[in-house]
Amino acid sequence: MHTLKDIVHEGLKGLQDTGTRTVALDDEARSILLNWQHTQTATSPAQKEQPCEQLQTVEQKIAYLRRRAESWKPARNMGTLREKMVFSVGDVHARLVLVGEAPGYDEERLGEPFVGKAGQKLNEILRAMGLARENVYITNICKFRPAMGDNQGTANRAPTSEEIAACLPIVQAELRAIRPVCIVCLGATAAHGLLGQQGSVSSLRGTWWEHGGVPVRVTYHPSYLLRNEALSARRAVWEDMLAVMEKLELPISEKQRGYFSPR
Ligand code: URA
Repeated sequence: MHTLKDIVHEGLKGLQDTGTRTVALDDEARSILLNWQHTQTATSPAQKEQPCEQLQTVEQKIAYLRRRAESWKPARNMGTLREKMVFSVGDVHARLVLVGEAPGYDEERLGEPFVGKAGQKLNEILRAMGLARENVYITNICKFRPAMGDNQGTANRAPTSEEIAACLPIVQAELRAIRPVCIVCLGATAAHGLLGQQGSVSSLRGTWWEHGGVPVRVTYHPSYLLRNEALSARRAVWEDMLAVMEKLELPISEKQRGYFSPR
């Protein structure tokens, strides 16, 4: 008997065979497909007990880490993080990794980082760089939405340093698996967690840091740009992104050089 999954798979395969390379998905379809993908990797017996570093491909390593994160006791045992784990999105072969704070209401609902308003702002910034979400790897320093009690609704909070520390081994293993050319910390929470540096974004940005031998740039979180429309904030983020583009040896046009206000 054909399941719904088989029918969708066959339909997509048919499109692929006839040369279609992209298919538009709405939020619900994207969420269903992601759930199928996770169940698939979670039940793949070949990878069950192998330590991450011994796995051969980046795809295997990231799938393994996704499963580990799902049942990651240091985070789950805290009791201060919500149930649903939200892992990462994007290209596991990407040269650029972006690290955010933690999933919020929208991300928890759809099971994907940066899909709410901050995610739209991030997409705009990437577009201005000549990139798309699919070209980069996007993850969070904390893999669970921080809890705020029974009536949390759509409210979000930043993860505590303990919650970040609990998730950090997973994030570090992700970065070792991906081995990007460059990492961007989006906001102070990600920077504090990844770099072990305290201080405001304004004191941490504008210079190169390092994590596991990989250059790291700190910039403002996209939600800061949503709250702060000032030209100076947009200019600062764009200057950071130009430095990142140079590090990645991406082409930079005159227009991009002079364009410091992605909106
Ligand atoms: N903000 C973050 O830092 N991460 C997300 O995934 C969404 C919003």
